[in-house]
Amino acid sequence: MAFVPYDRPVRAAFIGLGRVYDLNVLAYTGNPDVEVVALVDPSEERRAQRQADWPEAAAFASAAELAASGIEVDAVEALLPIPLHVDGVIELFGYGWHVNLQKPMCNDLLDAQRMLDAAKSSGRVLRVMENYLFYEPLIRLKSVFESGEIGTIAGYHMKMVGSGKGGWDVPWSSFEWQLKQIKRGRGIMIFDDGWHKLSTAIWLFGPVSQVRAWIGTTSFGHGIDIDAPAVIAWEHANGVRGVWDITLAPDLYLRSDYYTNDERWEVTGSRGFARVNRCTGRGIQQPSLEVYVDGEMRGYHALDDDWASSFRDSGRHWLRWLRTGDGPLLWSGEEAVDVLRFALAAYASSASDGIGVSPSQVI
Ligand SMILES: NC(=O)c1ccc[n+]([C@@H]2O[C@H](COP(=O)([O-])OP(=O)(O)OC[C@H]3O[C@@H](n4cnc5c(N)ncnc54)[C@H](O)[C@@H]3O)[C@@H](O)[C@H]2O)c1
Repeated sequence: MAFVPYDRPVRAAFIGLGRVYDLNVLAYTGNPDVEVVALVDPSEERRAQRQADWPEAAAFASAAELAASGIEVDAVEALLPIPLHVDGVIELFGYGWHVNLQKPMCNDLLDAQRMLDAAKSSGRVLRVMENYLFYEPLIRLKSVFESGEIGTIAGYHMKMVGSGKGGWDVPWSSFEWQLKQIKRGRGIMIFDDGWHKLSTAIWLFGPVSQVRAWIGTTSFGHGIDIDAPAVIAWEHANGVRGVWDITLAPDLYLRSDYYTNDERWEVTGSRGFARVNRCTGRGIQQPSLEVYVDGEMRGYHALDDDWASSFRDSGRHWLRWLRTGDGPLLWSGEEAVDVLRFALAAYASSASDGIGVSPSQVI
């Protein structure tokens, strides 16, 4: 079934009203492309809390109750715990709703295929939202090196430090489902948060042909085994190589309005370099993007470098897409599978002492 854009505001529901709702809601507030008609969460407390944002919306404890209510819904913002993504999304497609899903899409390729099949048979669209692709400093980084300003690309580097102090509160219930993910070999650093880094790599330089990884573990007891230190290196089909180092600094205080994650992206060209200094947290308090060419450093001081804005713009992009059908989904379900393959190739490489693994060959 071909997608037909809506000639009226999209009727939307939030499915899951937890921590990340605070960011995703930014796309919906004051947006004429959408009308929020329902809120769903088994937690009465969460429903009551979020109802204040949307007094006109009906609230339900489950998606099944919403579906049975007769309220018309076009699309849902699925903010479910990762272990519920697969069955949850299949259920949502069963009700005939388009789905904007959080990352990571799911843990393995069989489940990804089940989700794609469910989208296809329902004739609805699966989007796996990637807010980093809407973060203005990263968008500008991409346009800087694509302009040729720093010369021919020689390679690039991403850095991520997970710190244990600072940032906003994360409910213990979220850690419970993260622990389930850890038990399944899908850690917080590389698979959960790391999904964004792998996404940006594909978005910046295209398909990945080979991955080599060395993934370590740091245990904090009680099953809290964090997947760092780790190093992942890869080559894109266009020959550009990337490397990502992931470390933990549990006692480091990081100023952040959100999660305590210190991040950098640095692209080296034959004439200079371009570096995004931060994203989620406020580690390096210089301009969020700096470009060095021919002995001169230029700082971008006026970018919208609040991480929350990337959620706002990603969500607005989706809602506009539903109204027009124009432009890439960033990401479609199929593109999200490429990110999953990248992660799975890293795991396969690390399990085999860092041999090169092609994402196209993982199973
Ligand atoms: N893009 C990002 O940077 C980013 C950041 C944080 C979280 N996330 C993703 O967002 C998703 C949710 O994360 P979170 O931090 O908000 O988790 P959370 O644990 O804070 O919230 C999950 C919510 O889902 C509710 N829920 C559980 N079962 C449900 C069901 N069957 N139907 C409806 N609601 C149900 C829970 O009661 C809870 O309120 C995850 O996929 C996570 O990976 C993405």
